[in-house]
Amino acid sequence: MRPLCRTELIDDVTKKLFIKTYGCQMNVYDSGRMADVLAPLGYAPAQSAEEADMVILNTCHIREKAAEKVYSELGRVRRAKERKAEQGGRMIVAVAGCVAQAEGAEIMRRAPAVDMVVGPQSYHRLPEMVARITRGAGHVLETEFPVEDKFDYLPAPVSIAGPAAFLTIQEGCDKFCTFCVVPYTRGAEYSRPALAVIEEARRLVEAGARELTLLGQNVNAWHGAAPDGTNWGLGRLCRALAELDGLERIRYTTSHPRDMDDELISAHADVPQLMPYLHLPVQSGSDRVLAAMNRRHDAQSYLRLVERIRAARPDIALSSDFIVGFPGESDRDFEDTLSLVREVGYAQSFSFKYSPRPGTPGASMDAQVPDAVKSGRLEALQDLLNAQAREFHHATIGRRLSVLFEKPGRHQGQLVGRSPYLQPVHVDAPQALLGRIAEVEITGAEPHSLSGRLAELSVEAV
Ligand code: 5AD
Ligand code: SF4
Repeated sequence: MRPLCRTELIDDVTKKLFIKTYGCQMNVYDSGRMADVLAPLGYAPAQSAEEADMVILNTCHIREKAAEKVYSELGRVRRAKERKAEQGGRMIVAVAGCVAQAEGAEIMRRAPAVDMVVGPQSYHRLPEMVARITRGAGHVLETEFPVEDKFDYLPAPVSIAGPAAFLTIQEGCDKFCTFCVVPYTRGAEYSRPALAVIEEARRLVEAGARELTLLGQNVNAWHGAAPDGTNWGLGRLCRALAELDGLERIRYTTSHPRDMDDELISAHADVPQLMPYLHLPVQSGSDRVLAAMNRRHDAQSYLRLVERIRAARPDIALSSDFIVGFPGESDRDFEDTLSLVREVGYAQSFSFKYSPRPGTPGASMDAQVPDAVKSGRLEALQDLLNAQAREFHHATIGRRLSVLFEKPGRHQGQLVGRSPYLQPVHVDAPQALLGRIAEVEITGAEPHSLSGRLAELSVEAV
């Protein structure tokens, strides 16, 4: 297809774009990239769908509830589109993300107000798709492109939303856990080359990022051809990124226990910029269930891994995802999950009732667990996990933690930032500290956040 030339791209600077993002951090990153790729067409951010000339729903397909939300939101967007048409205006409606990839044709059928459907590997095609719609092409669907194309053709990020930015380094998954749609919606595992990652990181730091979270569905499976001719893993990449001037914090998510290698674990001991927080989903504590899930690890190997990670970085905060009510999960299996949680002690966690996803092996397994049983187990698990999170928060009271201030707080004169352990921290602090790191004495703990006061040294530094 013929590439658009520059004069065709910059046609109307008054257009407004509203992107609603569902699901994971990778979607947040992708929404930013979609805004970047559409900016040369004259699209500037809008605050709501009502005032927008183009609305993109960037969707998540991971659980049924997440996918269904999209259809109800599309009802609201359709009404806004109709109101706009009554006033002689025009709104382009696009569905992006994993629901787009999985249910493209179905979306067009169920929601005729949708003008285009664009899968996660095709965002670089958005300008062309918009041009086709504007020329009256009817509906447009793009879900077919290999991931390499996207990273080659997307423009470099031009702006960041705050000092903590996301950077996708890996996409897709070859693990095929039997509950998960990701291998079908995001495709095969792909790692971006080391130099491309370092270059994008450098630009983000130049734009004001102080913290980077490296993203991937299997981020610690990242491996890339490196400038020195060797093949790097994630630990080596973190060491290289730590050399960037001005980059003070590095995080990465989401990791698979199978891909946590020695090099990455030792980076946690040696690289001060690598923050002491690790999201390491275990999903279940029962070996029977883990095998049925095709997780390729058992409870013991996970516990041994946690020991090795804690030996490298004793204060590391661990978090995990859990699924309750996977097909065949018995009371005994569920008890094994509670025991594993007691043994590990998590700082934070995310737990879900199993949701059968069409096309995944789990959906057609026997012994599906009744919803009432799933609800009971979820409540019991969340009681335990919430108690652990509270305990973790409380243990920080009286400590001095470095906080990267990201945005103004709810109250006048207050800023909110993150501790090294990813806890939100509310502090009375001058605006001048936005985007900077300061030492904070922690004075209080709420269920989901901390409060504190600036340590004297930082006050003088302002
Ligand atoms: N049902 C419930 N939870 C799921 N997850 C993924 N697929 C499903 C499903 N079918 C959860 C897993 C994963 C997290 C992102 O979402 O815990 O780690
Ligand atoms: Fe899904 Fe498993 Fe791949 Fe994670 S590792 S994205 S849970 S298939």
